[in-house]
Amino acid sequence: MQILIIGAGFVGKATGFGFSKRGHDVTFVDISDTVIKNLNGFKAYKPEELKGGSYDFIFICLPTPYDFKKREQDMSIVKSSVNLLSKLLDNEPTIVLRSSVLPGTSRYMINRLEALNKVEGKDFYFCTNPEFLRAKTALEDFLNPWVIVIGCTNDIAYNNLHNLYKDFIDEQYIYKVTLEEAELTKYTHNLFNAAKISFTNQIWLISKELGINGNRIMEIVSESAEGSWNKKYGTRGGMPYGGLCLPKDTKGFISWLKRNNIDAPLIKSIDEINDILEEMAENNLAAKSVRDGIYWKPSPRCKVCQ
Ligand SMILES: NC(=O)c1ccc[n+]([C@@H]2O[C@H](COP(=O)([O-])OP(=O)(O)OC[C@H]3O[C@@H](n4cnc5c(N)ncnc54)[C@H](O)[C@@H]3O)[C@@H](O)[C@H]2O)c1
Repeated sequence: MQILIIGAGFVGKATGFGFSKRGHDVTFVDISDTVIKNLNGFKAYKPEELKGGSYDFIFICLPTPYDFKKREQDMSIVKSSVNLLSKLLDNEPTIVLRSSVLPGTSRYMINRLEALNKVEGKDFYFCTNPEFLRAKTALEDFLNPWVIVIGCTNDIAYNNLHNLYKDFIDEQYIYKVTLEEAELTKYTHNLFNAAKISFTNQIWLISKELGINGNRIMEIVSESAEGSWNKKYGTRGGMPYGGLCLPKDTKGFISWLKRNNIDAPLIKSIDEINDILEEMAENNLAAKSVRDGIYWKPSPRCKVCQ
């Protein structure tokens, strides 16, 4: 298959390298000269250099950062890919949105493409296919996914992408859902991971107050409560969540909830607890305290510690 990858970062490279390993013909597009230069051995272009082309699949792997000034998640980079896509619709491609996007973004993309006198399900196909890989083990995770989610509006779109992925995973772990379900699944995945960390940190803070070891508590609870803790990747109290996705997606989703007048106090508190832990880590108190188990000074913002 001819596959085009738009955005060659963690997700784009894992997707492109992975499909190339499986024998597909992969081309990359990226705005960064350095990224293009480092893609030795692959066809790689800047967006303005790509004049057209017949691709069976076009994967959108563009960033969705959190805009701290506007206090909302920035979907504009993903949305602007419509300009490039409009030049690539001749071969009835299947467009696959891999970026983590807020609910409604996929519909927006389809509407913009249909405004060019093209019909989704006939002239092009659209799937929302969120990625769950971890940055550190990106290619390995892409090649050995534990779940594949395909959001779509019609069977042809689903079958096209399903056929591309079917050797990657057992059939039972491929989920066919709507576009909005796929979008929300990815956010729920990140929010749930963030919530587990904040919950563990909340218990860790309370335990500190009592002079007991919160990590020991969570270790025991991992055995007592159903499915509460993954021993391999399980959380430890004392450090905020970081990384590329959890902070931006948690904040981005909370501002989206606010814009849509959806009240969700549990989700808001995930971020509030993380802010407390971040402040403690900045002061190097939490890190030191975790390291030696002795040093402890309450943060002024930590209500539990006052
Ligand atoms: N990093 C992860 O672990 C991870 C995991 C799952 C999902 N995601 C999601 O996948 C998406 C991509 O994340 P990432 O970590 O690969 O991002 P990244 O920042 O590593 O890569 C994005 C790439 O897109 C390029 N780019 C930016 N604007 C462009 C444009 N207009 N045209 C062409 N190229 C452009 C950048 O130069 C960069 O190489 C995000 O929505 C992210 O939330 C990331």
